[in-house]
Amino acid sequence: MKAIVRDVYGPADALELREVDKPSIGVDEVLIEVRAASLDPGVWIFMTGRPMAVRLAAGLRRPRVAVLGRAVAGVVVAVGAGVTRLRAGDEVYGTCQSGSFAQYATARQHRVAPKPANLTFEQAAAMPISAVTALQSIRDARVQPGQRVLITGAAGGVGSFAVQLVKVYGAGVTGVCSTSKIELVRSLGAEDVIDYTRHEIDRGGARYDVIIDTAGNRPLSLLRRATTPRGTIALVGGGHATGWLLGGFQRQMAAPLLSLSGSQRVRGVAARERHEDLEELTTLVEAGSVTPVIDRSYALADAPDAMRYLAQGHPAGKVVVTAAGRR
Ligand SMILES: NC(=O)c1ccc[n+]([C@@H]2O[C@H](COP(=O)([O-])OP(=O)(O)OC[C@H]3O[C@@H](n4cnc5c(N)ncnc54)[C@H](OP(=O)(O)O)[C@@H]3O)[C@@H](O)[C@H]2O)c1
Repeated sequence: MKAIVRDVYGPADALELREVDKPSIGVDEVLIEVRAASLDPGVWIFMTGRPMAVRLAAGLRRPRVAVLGRAVAGVVVAVGAGVTRLRAGDEVYGTCQSGSFAQYATARQHRVAPKPANLTFEQAAAMPISAVTALQSIRDARVQPGQRVLITGAAGGVGSFAVQLVKVYGAGVTGVCSTSKIELVRSLGAEDVIDYTRHEIDRGGARYDVIIDTAGNRPLSLLRRATTPRGTIALVGGGHATGWLLGGFQRQMAAPLLSLSGSQRVRGVAARERHEDLEELTTLVEAGSVTPVIDRSYALADAPDAMRYLAQGHPAGKVVVTAAGRR
């Protein structure tokens, strides 16, 4: 099969479209014929091996899994002996074990769910990491109806889902984005938008019951100033920050300590992909409450260009690759 492969950690230039063996499935896994896969900053981290802490999971000297990519949508073509929830022919979405920038990929059954019937494979592939992260952030922050919620990075992969999901939870949304994304963020349901190139998020004082910080590039002191005294700050982003060992993620890890000083709750979000969350999202998508925003779609062979585009840090929604140009 064809796949986007790298033998060492490094830049997008090190990625190659190569013929490799089809992955074999374990007892608890399904083999998926990939129709589309999506990108997120986590894939960039797995590609570069930076921050270094990722190598503890992905391979110390070189990547254990040569094929890049995690989020996937496609059709199940084989199931392991222990798989009970899925069968060949099912259209699914989820996250992979073996790398989703390929014609075939394996996934554990508990990380895969039936694809929303009203979505294309490209749209479905946009969801497994970003929408699940948005959903878990909202739960972690205990968003309640009627609250005021500020979302940084509101036009990005996680943020574009978070805006829509906070509305589902019955809260009001202020989105933070750059000038060219204002209309997009409003169209997703934000009542108010802060253009971060013109205003800071604390311009109105301590107004927000919850801040969901996906952009990850504002000091905590600033986030605190914009949050009500008993409010919650959910730290999601940090991957763009430099830092040899942990990148920007030390802030998430330190969240329990950060909560000790002051009356505000600080939560470090560490998303976990679970089929139950995908099923909840499927219900919301099929009801028309949530729709993925696709910024750009690339053919599998052009995945290196897709990675370079993502790395600029300003997608309008999600970037996807389609296997062999299929939709
Ligand atoms: N904690 C977890 O479990 C978890 C899970 C998934 C992702 N993440 C992290 O969450 C972060 C966001 O992921 P994503 O997929 O949403 O990324 P993304 O799609 O690349 O979006 C990045 C966002 O950051 C905004 N941004 C860029 N520069 C900015 C600046 N100077 N000031 C304010 N905003 C700025 C962009 O807004 P404009 O385009 O408007 O500039 C864009 O909306 C990443 O760090 C990722 O690693 C964490």
